Amino acid sequence: MFIESFKVESPNVKYTENEIQSVYNYETTELVHENKNGTYQWVVKPKTVKYEFKTDIHVPKLGVMLVGWGGNNGSTLTGGVIANKEGISWATKDKVQQANYFGSLTQASTIRVGSYNGEEIYAPFKSLLPMVNPNDIVFGGWDISDMNLADAMARAKVFDIDLQKQLRPYMESMVPLPGIYDPDFIAANQGERANNIMKGTKKEQVQQVIKDIREFKEKNKVDKVVVLWTANTERYSNVIVGLNDTVESLMASLEKNESEISPSTLYAIACVLENVPFINGSPQNTFVPGLIDLAIQRNCLIGGDDFKSGQTKMKSVLVDFLVGAGIKPTSIVSYNHLGNNDGMNLSAPQTFRSKEISKSNVVDDMVSSNGILYEPGEHPDHVVVIKYVPYVGDSKRAMDEYTSEIFMGGKNTIVLHNTCEDSLLAAPIILDLVLLAELSTRIQFKADGEGKFHTFHPVATILSYLTKAPLVPPGTPVVNALSKQRAMLENILRASIGLAPENNMILEYK
Ligand code: NAI
Repeated sequence: MFIESFKVESPNVKYTENEIQSVYNYETTELVHENKNGTYQWVVKPKTVKYEFKTDIHVPKLGVMLVGWGGNNGSTLTGGVIANKEGISWATKDKVQQANYFGSLTQASTIRVGSYNGEEIYAPFKSLLPMVNPNDIVFGGWDISDMNLADAMARAKVFDIDLQKQLRPYMESMVPLPGIYDPDFIAANQGERANNIMKGTKKEQVQQVIKDIREFKEKNKVDKVVVLWTANTERYSNVIVGLNDTVESLMASLEKNESEISPSTLYAIACVLENVPFINGSPQNTFVPGLIDLAIQRNCLIGGDDFKSGQTKMKSVLVDFLVGAGIKPTSIVSYNHLGNNDGMNLSAPQTFRSKEISKSNVVDDMVSSNGILYEPGEHPDHVVVIKYVPYVGDSKRAMDEYTSEIFMGGKNTIVLHNTCEDSLLAAPIILDLVLLAELSTRIQFKADGEGKFHTFHPVATILSYLTKAPLVPPGTPVVNALSKQRAMLENILRASIGLAPENNMILEYK
């Protein structure tokens, strides 16, 4: 059964005028590697840590500025939100289609709140805590192409034509601000569309981005802004001691107009200096060490990298299932072909390399979790190929072959063909990223013994469900398995309202 909303009643939870306060007992374990009479053994000690959470319930008016606003993702998201807000429906050859938010974790998925009369009761994910309604978001942003959003939507060839016609009047007046263009970082084939370029030195460009954010905020009367990179994939920038390895070196390099600071890093520096959350939806290493340190110093949320939308999402489900079932994947081969502008940009070796790196580490945590199947250091063969095939446009094809060893030397091969409709998968993920990033800045917590409440670590691992190569603070484990990432997010939000983690035990019926 489905319910729209609920309220928690508990001595551990208090709803005030401004906050939801909860006291939460975190059940965890402490591991000790002990030497007992000359032999080492692992001892696991269950422990309970008391946490207090407080969530600001005032939902702000949110502005979202996209870097690459006029791209396929940017125009699809903008049009999709307008269609939802205006209740637009359109004729397809199959039926009259209504706007929806399918594919968004926050808007279209549910959580189990308990059972009632022998039935499981589910509520919307978004009913856990007060969140921004996507229909209320004001969009803006930058693009190196000056095309207005209506023409950009047509260029993207993602939406049905009847929908495009209805959206056009809303989107014609939306024109991206000039973007930071550096041909050294993206493929040469992008040069043709670069007609809307921010001038100045790198330092001046950072200042201009700050000015743009302030003006956008002022003009649209929004309380908060989140910036998200959905522009072309850049090549990796070199991480060099003295150039970008510390806050000091990065800021000194900015002064010196060093060529190796990428456009994405420049936008990110501006956001961190302005304390505006910055999320990177592409695979490149925007977050060089100096930038991560700057974000930590200023306690400004950064999150990334690379939207997890199609092939990798499947991989982080399938390999988790296989390894969790005691089956040993030994070869994973992934082919993609796509024909959108992203695909054209990825046809250059240096930008493809960024994508290859981002896609390649996705099974590491699952493999290293099972020492029965894999020797230390052993890893399945894992190859990723991406080809540009213009005809398929935004309808990306992802083909994978998973070969695994099963019982008694047998082999199992699974072959997948996944038609990804790239931007229709990515747009709801972008929405979730900005909504959850905003929400997470309103949650504060402290463990027993910690003096003051604090926000989450500025490197936002809470967003990892949505990204291919989750950015984590130095020294923190990377979790790629999709079910674990979702459980982490849901359970943290549950803790904020004093609910136990979803443990699926359903003991009351056992
Ligand atoms: P797109 O090529 O249609 O859009 C990118 C836009 O960024 C273009 O309009 C371009 O003019 C603009 N741009 C390039 N450099 C810029 C800069 N420095 N400043 C401002 N604007 C700039 O690509 P699409 O399909 O929208 O994808 C965007 C990014 O998202 C790509 O990097 C892609 O790899 C990444 N991504 C997409 C996924 C998906 O669509 N399913 C999944 C994972 C990542």
